[in-house]
Amino acid sequence: MSSIYLKRTNFRLLSLIAGGSLVAGYGLNKANQVSITTIDKSTPPNNSKFLPAGLFPLSVLPKGKSEKDFQQVYNAIAEKVREEDDADDGAGRYGLLCRLAWHSSGTFDLGSGKGGSYGGTMIYEPESTDPGNAGLSIGIEFLNEFSVKYPWLSRGDLWTLGGVVAVQEAGGPQIKWRPGRGNVDDLDSVPNNGFLPDASKEDGKYVKNLFARMGFDERETVALIGAHCLGKCHPDRSGFDGPWGPSFNMFTNDFFVRLLEGWHVRKWNGPKQYEDDSSKSFMMLPSDMVLKKESYFLKYVKMYAEDEQLFFKDFSAAYTKLLENGIDFGKQPYMTFKTLDDQDM
Ligand code: HEM
Repeated sequence: MSSIYLKRTNFRLLSLIAGGSLVAGYGLNKANQVSITTIDKSTPPNNSKFLPAGLFPLSVLPKGKSEKDFQQVYNAIAEKVREEDDADDGAGRYGLLCRLAWHSSGTFDLGSGKGGSYGGTMIYEPESTDPGNAGLSIGIEFLNEFSVKYPWLSRGDLWTLGGVVAVQEAGGPQIKWRPGRGNVDDLDSVPNNGFLPDASKEDGKYVKNLFARMGFDERETVALIGAHCLGKCHPDRSGFDGPWGPSFNMFTNDFFVRLLEGWHVRKWNGPKQYEDDSSKSFMMLPSDMVLKKESYFLKYVKMYAEDEQLFFKDFSAAYTKLLENGIDFGKQPYMTFKTLDDQDM
């Protein structure tokens, strides 16, 4: 499985000289070995050596940077997302970036306090070759130019901010966000495979326990999985195929509305997935279907299908929590960003 992923991984080694100083670059070479180029003083701190085991790392706001600087980064990412609106057969980059932020955070384990978005460790094995992360190298590469342009921004900050951009620019709720993650380049801190969910598991307890491991209750779990309104499945990444609905570049409560309609197992030469009865054009993963089967999830599916604003409110809170899991932000205030459309008004 991982060798399939490797063949499709196309990281470029970035080692750029800009403004006379060496700029942080990272990537995997052909043998999938990590290469790091170091780094001038404006790059984010590598805090891994100072982390006492089991304690949450403390966020450190990049020196001299304010909300205005981060809105600038937000705008730069959003402009590029707009430019690539036609990518991936019209899905654009919304789903990809929303998923990158989620998977970089979704390794968090409340029990040990380890994992999560802090260190931006997904460039390192075994996280980079986790079959669950297949395809996310495309998202990392998409965002890479912003690491170069804004060398004071850590990978964890960049990838999570990319998720905020994706949700907001797709018409979703405003997502509160805080910066200050530090690059962790200590290979012992890279999470093992197995922390991310397996979509073939049609098992409510499995989904419930996996999200409980990250500190989420059933309501938050359902709200978070509502992100499947965005983007689609790719046979060459996860093996699954197709979008969950027709408006896959818009953040809506459509996932819940559709889930409550009729679905049957698709007959095809691929892993078990569901197909909608009416148009046979859309899909549900086995793990999505458990939200409909289990009463402890279904009540929230119904609530969100009926009330999009409630879904937006709950999703927004749960996504912020997801992106911050395992990090000590102290009293650092949240930042909120205007969408490109709001700034045009
Ligand atoms: C039980 C939990 C979950 C499972 C099993 C699951 C599984 C998957 C799978 C198999 C894909 C297809 C990847 C591909 O082929 O490109 C996918 C895509 C996606 N997932 Fe999930 N997911 C889960 C939860 C979540 C959560 C919590 C979020 C966000 C908060 C999320 C956001 C997305 C998005 C936006 C995509 C589309 C990616 C794209 O268009 O490239 N998922 N998910």
